[in-house]
Amino acid sequence: MLDHIYSSSPSPHLYLPRLLDPEAFKKLAPFPDIKVRAMGRSGRDLFMGEPGYDEVIHRDGYSDLYNLFTSAEFVSWVLSKFADDMHRYGCAFAAKDAKLMNPPFLETREALEHAPNVLDEKAPANELFNRFDFTIARGNYTSYVHLDSPRRVIGGLLFFSDAEEEGMAGGEFTLYRDLLFANDRSAHLPIPVKKFPMRKNTGVLFLNCNVGFHGPSRIRSIKGTRKWVYYSISSRNQVWQPHRLNAFYRAGLKVLRKLGMGAASGPRSKLEADVPGHSQ
Ligand SMILES: [Fe+2]
Repeated sequence: MLDHIYSSSPSPHLYLPRLLDPEAFKKLAPFPDIKVRAMGRSGRDLFMGEPGYDEVIHRDGYSDLYNLFTSAEFVSWVLSKFADDMHRYGCAFAAKDAKLMNPPFLETREALEHAPNVLDEKAPANELFNRFDFTIARGNYTSYVHLDSPRRVIGGLLFFSDAEEEGMAGGEFTLYRDLLFANDRSAHLPIPVKKFPMRKNTGVLFLNCNVGFHGPSRIRSIKGTRKWVYYSISSRNQVWQPHRLNAFYRAGLKVLRKLGMGAASGPRSKLEADVPGHSQ
């Protein structure tokens, strides 16, 4: 389907070294110029169903990429790569039972804001839809460690700009291991393990299971912008369950927070740093 390198460490992920033929990628129309809007990921996002979205995905080049990543074949292929991991990490359904909804489910900006964990608790977990969001960030994009919403089976980034060309230091997509892992879908003492520099026409897809901690590293300096597509294979229902912490862990984490240590003391997202809400 696509060139890829699978790795299970620090959490299951696929590196995609080439999204499109390099000549085809060069011909992509400019990345959409997105206005600042509330309730998004970076503050400058364009989501499915919003004004201007269809115009972008019908452009030459973008349509190839969009049609590929939102096809039932591609979704099945990605999930097949993670089938064992999905079972091991307790996904609510088996990869072979996945069904891409047709017509696709449209998850609005408002739905993201109001029901971040579950959109429909009666929905079968194996009924899936995609997110394919255009996103732009500048130097104020906060570094943070997190998991995406527990209804996302897979999350990912498709890069549309180069760190070198944008004069960006830092801002790598980073996978973390939590040294105080508690299986509760929060990072307590995460350490960076693997970094993917921003390089256009590459991507990373990760399993959003309870160990799938990730986030951008701090952007130390940037002249241009960080441009990417946030991709997801998602359910309307919760597919990953957090485990409840025992009293020992809760007490220990309280101490850590008081000492200002670990991710528990910092914002979980760019949005959370600014306003309430978290919408990946
Ligand atoms: Fe994320």
